[in-house]
Amino acid sequence: MEIARVSQVCPEHLGFIRANGDRHIRQKSFDYYKAGGSEGDILLEYRIDGELVGLSFTACPNGHSKYSITVVRRDFRNRGIGTALLKAKKELAAARGCQLRSLVAQSNTPSVRMCSRVFSTREVQDGKYLFYDGGAPCAE
Ligand SMILES: CC(C)(COP(=O)(O)OP(=O)(O)OC[C@H]1O[C@@H](n2cnc3c(N)ncnc32)[C@H](O)[C@@H]1OP(=O)(O)O)[C@@H](O)C(=O)NCCC(=O)NCCS
Repeated sequence: MEIARVSQVCPEHLGFIRANGDRHIRQKSFDYYKAGGSEGDILLEYRIDGELVGLSFTACPNGHSKYSITVVRRDFRNRGIGTALLKAKKELAAARGCQLRSLVAQSNTPSVRMCSRVFSTREVQDGKYLFYDGGAPCAE
């Protein structure tokens, strides 16, 4: 397993998000981690041979996730890395009583597909977004 939990956001993470976020990362979330995040945030790295190829962050302030980010390096996409990170994050969040949620633009097909594999419920919001909410993982 190449997924590791880390305790702090570092400059490498921020550069990685900037380089690979494809403008899908909310500025509010980026700014939260840029400011250092908070103790208890779930910060996961996916490394292959020591190289950072994916990361997934979430804050769990009041039993629900906030400031969620999942990013995979472009040349490592479509191999299940994003899904593996999201699943691991969901399990860690659940273990501390936090339900993972995600708001995804319907136009962001890779993210929609990834979330559909990990979350069981979703609803359309404002005609543009899909809101995913906890529950048991979908059968694959
Ligand atoms: C979203 C993201 C994290 C997914 O990472 P990943 O490692 O490629 O994810 P996975 O391989 O687990 O799954 C990607 C799915 O999208 C599908 N996909 C990718 N590009 C696609 C396209 N252009 N059209 C249709 N489906 C596409 C893949 O086939 C796969 O679906 P499947 O497993 O059902 O076949 C990655 O695309 C990314 O970093 N995007 C930029 C940042 C972002 O949008 N983050 C999400 C919001 S925080």
